[in-house]
Amino acid sequence: MVTPSQPDPRPEEETVRYVIEDQVAWVYFNRPDKRNCMSPKLNRQMKRVIEELEFRDDVAVLVLTGEGAAWSAGMDLLEYFRMNEDKGLGAIRQAQREAYGWWERLRWYEKPTIAMVNGWCFGGGYGPLFACDLAFCADDAQFGLSEINWAILPGGGASKVAAELLNFRDAMYHAMMGENLSGPEAAAKGLVNESVPAGELKARVTEVAQKLAKKDGHALRATKWAIRRVREMTYDNAEDYLIRAQEALNDFGGWATRKEATKQFLDQKTFKPGLGAFDKSKLKQD
Ligand code: ACO
Repeated sequence: MVTPSQPDPRPEEETVRYVIEDQVAWVYFNRPDKRNCMSPKLNRQMKRVIEELEFRDDVAVLVLTGEGAAWSAGMDLLEYFRMNEDKGLGAIRQAQREAYGWWERLRWYEKPTIAMVNGWCFGGGYGPLFACDLAFCADDAQFGLSEINWAILPGGGASKVAAELLNFRDAMYHAMMGENLSGPEAAAKGLVNESVPAGELKARVTEVAQKLAKKDGHALRATKWAIRRVREMTYDNAEDYLIRAQEALNDFGGWATRKEATKQFLDQKTFKPGLGAFDKSKLKQD
């Protein structure tokens, strides 16, 4: 006897959990029994959590990952789609805004972000996947635009993500066929930076996060926003934007920071920019 799925009784505040360790905020989609699909409750809670973490001094990097076997099985077909469609257009739009809202916040997050894709990643999950600056996955993760398999199109930005990250033929095949990519396939096609054995995933992401944490946060923010912005600019506009962005960075303490870094290279000879980051702890002591 099959029991139809019921709305998840989990309280809204438990749909996301996080821990902060050594300057890294590990944020978990926390509906493992529902394969971390995104319900309106989860979307609201995720926005709250990432906004709370954004300006904390003890957080330098945010990692988005999933509890259990999934990263995220996309949008919740019951609570996000069916239940809101039953209520009408107002409810549909509100649910869309809640979901798209936190992905947008994450795309333009003040701090570096990493998607640590531990398992299933479907459909709407491509929104937060693209929103994260870097992405690492387990070899046994599975990525799919499964929308076509239940007769919708990849909405919520998912088509845009495929077109941005994959080449044209791969994006078409991926969206039209509804077949999944393994972790190594996703890495080879550019959906993620790297795929590693599941047992090594957290260590590799920790290594990357710790390297990022040692770099200047203002420069990182300016850099990641620059890479996103220039994608949609002509060369001339990009060149001009980057001059303005660097000048804005100078106003965020950038002059003092680069002076210190330059001093460590040219005068003290304690670091080489080509081989790693300058020692930013010295900056605080001055
Ligand atoms: N929406 C609603 N419920 C979901 C979703 C989802 N996207 N994904 C999983 N669940 C629920 C299942 O209905 C089930 O709930 P139940 O306890 O009420 O039975 C529970 O999570 C566990 O799921 P299973 O299917 O039993 O888990 P399994 O490990 O066998 O399969 C898999 C995992 C492959 C991810 C499967 O759940 C699945 O295909 N999910 C849907 C993936 C998908 O296509 N997502 C939508 C993409 S399109 C978009 O996001 C717009």
